[in-house]
Amino acid sequence: MKKTYKVGVIGATGMVGQRFLTLLSSHPWFQVEAIAASPRSAGKPYHEAVGKKWCMDTDIPENVRDMIVMDATGDVEKIASMVDFVFCAVDMKKDEIKALEERYAKAECPVVSNNSAHRHTPDVPMVIPELNAEHIQIIPAQRKRLGTKRGFIAVKSNCSLQSYVPALYPLSPFGVQDVLVCTYQAISGAGKTFETWPEMVDNVIPYIGGEEEKSEQEPLKIWGKIEGDVIKPATSPNFTAQCLRVPVSNGHMGAVFVRFQNKPSKEEILSVWKNFKGRAQELELPSAPKQFLHYFEENDMPQTRLNRMLENGMAISIGRLREDTQYDYKFVCLSHNTLRGAAGGAVLLAELLCAEGYMD
Ligand SMILES: NC(=O)c1ccc[n+]([C@@H]2O[C@H](COP(=O)([O-])OP(=O)(O)OC[C@H]3O[C@@H](n4cnc5c(N)ncnc54)[C@H](OP(=O)(O)O)[C@@H]3O)[C@@H](O)[C@H]2O)c1
Repeated sequence: MKKTYKVGVIGATGMVGQRFLTLLSSHPWFQVEAIAASPRSAGKPYHEAVGKKWCMDTDIPENVRDMIVMDATGDVEKIASMVDFVFCAVDMKKDEIKALEERYAKAECPVVSNNSAHRHTPDVPMVIPELNAEHIQIIPAQRKRLGTKRGFIAVKSNCSLQSYVPALYPLSPFGVQDVLVCTYQAISGAGKTFETWPEMVDNVIPYIGGEEEKSEQEPLKIWGKIEGDVIKPATSPNFTAQCLRVPVSNGHMGAVFVRFQNKPSKEEILSVWKNFKGRAQELELPSAPKQFLHYFEENDMPQTRLNRMLENGMAISIGRLREDTQYDYKFVCLSHNTLRGAAGGAVLLAELLCAEGYMD
């Protein structure tokens, strides 16, 4: 792998794009060389284009403050010639995003995407680096289909499932069979703040468009296996989900009920969580948490405000594991939706792709 990589951020003015720029401003391997957004922002210095939409706790990073925003759709070839790969997080129609990401890939510029458009494309890996890192081995098959030498698309999964799938996947040896989950999701997951979405103050909205389907179906691709030129989704576990929007700025919580084929003891589950390490930890990737899964013994933990920033917002907090009257066990879990669940998860995926030689 190279020492440093030049990167572009497509959708740089958005909520996830802002997170990317913040994380990348001090990244040891990645240097931002191009930023792009809609034609509304193109041609303006970044600080002017983002204006009042800037909503990070820290100031706009100096390295991008005066950088001129490019046109995400009009400048594809130019951006591709400036960088080694791009991160993509745009708010466009699904078929437009699909086409846009393929244009970058076909311009020999790999795309690490936060968007859902390609999550079910059979030769596009959807990766949580601690869990299914081996799915990136599908990339040569995707390159063959696209007719590219370097270009490809890799995606991360939806933010809703990044609390409960990391907790459940390592328990696969016990045969995870049925999972019922209710998610309590932060407003930043909709790209919003309390200023831009005042209706969310003191309120719960029991509907998030498309979220329950994603929460039930995407885990099956993560549990899937490469067969020939595709990733074949698993047929189990069975997932059922209800997703609620709650008045929280950042951090998605999940309340999980699970049934196993071979019910483990509580001690066995806690031991699996404590000792679990994935490829991201083996490779010591810069954004990987040292301890991916943290279990809290206290009855009132984890709490969103106290624990969402655990290990820079990249670790998963779990608590309240206990036996259930209808399922085998129930527990709660928490992850930061714009860090682990969005930009941070994508940066970690890009680190994995670099370390495994797919970005050279
Ligand atoms: N927020 C989360 O926690 C989260 C988590 C996981 C995945 N995602 C996904 O990430 C993507 C971005 O989400 P977000 O919350 O960051 O959205 P957002 O805050 O609404 O930002 C959208 C970005 O897309 C750009 N854009 C809009 N229309 C465009 C066009 N026609 N051509 C090019 N660029 C265009 C915007 O540029 P302008 O400023 O110029 O309009 C902006 O940079 C979505 O697909 C979302 O589903 C979000």
